[in-house]
Amino acid sequence: MNYKLYLDCKKAYENNQNIMDLVKKKNPDNRSLAIEIAYDLQAGSYIKDFYQNQDIKRFYTNEVGSLLERYINKDSIILNVGAGELWTISLMLEKSAVKPKKLYNLEISWSRLHKGSKFWNSIHGNTITMKPFVADMLAIPLLSKSVDIVTSSHGLEPNGSQLEKVLAELFRVGRDKCVLFEPCYELCSKEGQQRMDRLGYIKDVASVVDKLGGKVEEVIQITNSINKLNPTACFVIKPPSGAISSDEYDSFTVPGTDYSLELKEDCYYSKDTGLAFPILGTIPILKNEKGILASKY
Ligand SMILES: C[S@@+](CC[C@H](N)C(=O)[O-])C[C@H]1O[C@@H](n2cnc3c(N)ncnc32)[C@H](O)[C@@H]1O
Repeated sequence: MNYKLYLDCKKAYENNQNIMDLVKKKNPDNRSLAIEIAYDLQAGSYIKDFYQNQDIKRFYTNEVGSLLERYINKDSIILNVGAGELWTISLMLEKSAVKPKKLYNLEISWSRLHKGSKFWNSIHGNTITMKPFVADMLAIPLLSKSVDIVTSSHGLEPNGSQLEKVLAELFRVGRDKCVLFEPCYELCSKEGQQRMDRLGYIKDVASVVDKLGGKVEEVIQITNSINKLNPTACFVIKPPSGAISSDEYDSFTVPGTDYSLELKEDCYYSKDTGLAFPILGTIPILKNEKGILASKY
């Protein structure tokens, strides 16, 4: 991370300026960097907000949780992308009668996962196998077709300029359903659409899915959306089919590939590529640009 850019953003954040715009000026082609800085600066704020507005938030998590529950069984492997501070997924699964076999939480900001893991533990402890990791949705460190359900809650939202690449990667790892709770431009008011355009949010989800060979099976409008200018819909999507990976492999991969990673004392290591990926606290950092070349490890 360019710390000078981060410090400029921190100052701008304290002065209520738009961080995404600031990063875009200096790095026009790196949306993920803008997302990482903008959200890392907010780490902790969503959990604080949850405690201040519990009723509204729980109406939302109850509604989206019951929709997700339709697709879960006791063997399900779930990947939650753009997991943020984990409050949403924690509460969605709290109400679910059936618990999945495993939940992966992917997030680009380490600080948000760090805060969120404590929140998750306060609700679920060790009752569900949960693996948080830092990664970019553009390069997911999991085997192709190894996840039963890919889900999100406004996680894809800020990826307007790279929606096709994100969905292509979700379809690479997803094998049964993508159940995405995301803003729906087409269901939005004029004012909401202008806001989404200004913020670079996703739109035209159905046509991008179609282009990639997936199928939007349902779009369900959520009644208890938290922000009426940014209404949530549940997109139930069938990803294109492909060769299914075995559930026996229980580790990460080099991001965006099927090269296996082995857990060592202090890193995840890839024999094939010679790359070592660090672990900070207990959270693995599985981003290609963070891979350290250590061919003689
Ligand atoms: C609007 S927040 C939603 C967070 C959480 N799902 C919730 O319900 O509170 C979007 C989150 O997605 C993450 N995110 C967005 N784009 C991402 C990307 N390309 N790769 C990884 N994380 C991403 C952001 O860092 C942020 O934490």
